[in-house]
Amino acid sequence: MEVIIKESPLEGSLLAARIIARAVRKDPETVLGLATGSTPLILYQELIRLHREEQLDFSRVVTFNLDEYVGLPPEHPASYHSFMKRNLFDHINVAPERINIPDGMAKDIRGFCREYEKKIIAAGGIDIQILGIGLDGHIGFNEPTSSLTSRTRIKTLTAQTLQENAAYFGGLANAPRHVITMGIGTILDSRMCLLLAFGERKAEIVAQAVEGPLMALVPASALQLHPDAKFIIDQAAAACLSKRSYYQYVYDHKPDWQLD
Ligand code: PGA
Repeated sequence: MEVIIKESPLEGSLLAARIIARAVRKDPETVLGLATGSTPLILYQELIRLHREEQLDFSRVVTFNLDEYVGLPPEHPASYHSFMKRNLFDHINVAPERINIPDGMAKDIRGFCREYEKKIIAAGGIDIQILGIGLDGHIGFNEPTSSLTSRTRIKTLTAQTLQENAAYFGGLANAPRHVITMGIGTILDSRMCLLLAFGERKAEIVAQAVEGPLMALVPASALQLHPDAKFIIDQAAAACLSKRSYYQYVYDHKPDWQLD
């Protein structure tokens, strides 16, 4: 696990965008795992800029989103389908048939989840998975106590996550309680994980995920098992890390052979 501490959310997001752009330029059929929430917004803006100004070509890229609310039609403004269109897909040349987002309206949710897993495998697996982290440590919508080997399935959101999301639905009463999410096992199968976390609100949970015990109570701690997981965080989100200066030292002295 690599912890990269940048000065600001902008600098962290630019680094993540560079890693993605390099992968897409090297392999135009890169499979990207995408996340929603406020954290990846600057990253997506930079990917749009790279497409517009530096000809970054997404036409053969395949995407899989982490999650979607159950019972929310794709055109609902708070759906993750809408989020992705608004914040990324409408502004780059990704092919619509190569976009995959869980279908929150699926009649047979279990069957849908099984198919989603098969589609990821058929695409050759996810090359780079973008992740945020919830205040309770969730990745995707894998809430605390999710099995560390879980696959794509339906989950119930915690009261804390519901509260966090309520604003997007005009209050708690309208906020969906259930989601389809890739599992922690699904996420761990991707070749590289890039977890972004910014701001002091995330400081404590980032420290638990990076330096705390590996446990289902902190789903993001499962990334300790991943051979190529990078936490790209800002100074504020790094505040509770006990080995902060060590991570900085490692990054500042990265030998050429380790640079990606
Ligand atoms: P945020 O959400 O990016 O809006 O902080 C992260 C998450 O809940 O995974």
